[in-house]
Amino acid sequence: MGTNENQGAVMLRAVMADDLPLFFEHQLDPEAAWMAAFGAAGMRDWGEFSARWTRALNDDTRITRTIMWNGEVAGNVSSFMLFGDPAVGYWLGREYWGKGIATRALAAFLEVVTVRPLYARAAQDNIGSLRVLAKCRFVICGEDKGFATARGGETEEYVLRLG
Ligand SMILES: CC(C)(COP(=O)(O)OP(=O)(O)OC[C@H]1O[C@@H](n2cnc3c(N)ncnc32)[C@H](O)[C@@H]1OP(=O)(O)O)[C@@H](O)C(=O)NCCC(=O)NCCS
Repeated sequence: MGTNENQGAVMLRAVMADDLPLFFEHQLDPEAAWMAAFGAAGMRDWGEFSARWTRALNDDTRITRTIMWNGEVAGNVSSFMLFGDPAVGYWLGREYWGKGIATRALAAFLEVVTVRPLYARAAQDNIGSLRVLAKCRFVICGEDKGFATARGGETEEYVLRLG
């Protein structure tokens, strides 16, 4: 993917209720849901999505931030417990891909979430996400496979660790 790296200003802020319909649209995108593969990707029902997000935002074990790019809501980044370890995940609306936004948003988030080691998982063919993690100094520490809802089948993933 050709990038015009570091275009525009990236910042994180607290999630606001008005962000949720945008996040809902982002995760409905079939290509994005395929990339992300696991988790709650591709939730079709707004009621279920907003209930899940409302619970997550009230969950003390999670930290979530809205990613702003040039004053626009570009996506979100969050930390949560995954298989007993603290982990990170992120999602951008497709129109925001390829501008270096995820790399800068994750780097900023790593100053908010300081627990180490910190883990991430990505489907082995999610080249963009693996690159974002590598640029933020995550290293591959294992492999796993599981049922990926968005793909309707078993998918191999890498486990990555920072610190
Ligand atoms: C994965 C995702 C977050 C990448 O966001 P992004 O802002 O486009 O990433 P960046 O612009 O910071 O790119 C970082 C690097 O990855 C590369 N990259 C990004 N997307 C890529 C793709 N689809 N294929 C190949 N390389 C890609 C960029 O070229 C850049 O590499 P470089 O610095 O060597 O030039 C975004 O595509 C997304 O939200 N996808 C859907 C949800 C998802 O997969 N979340 C992660 C779940 S593990």
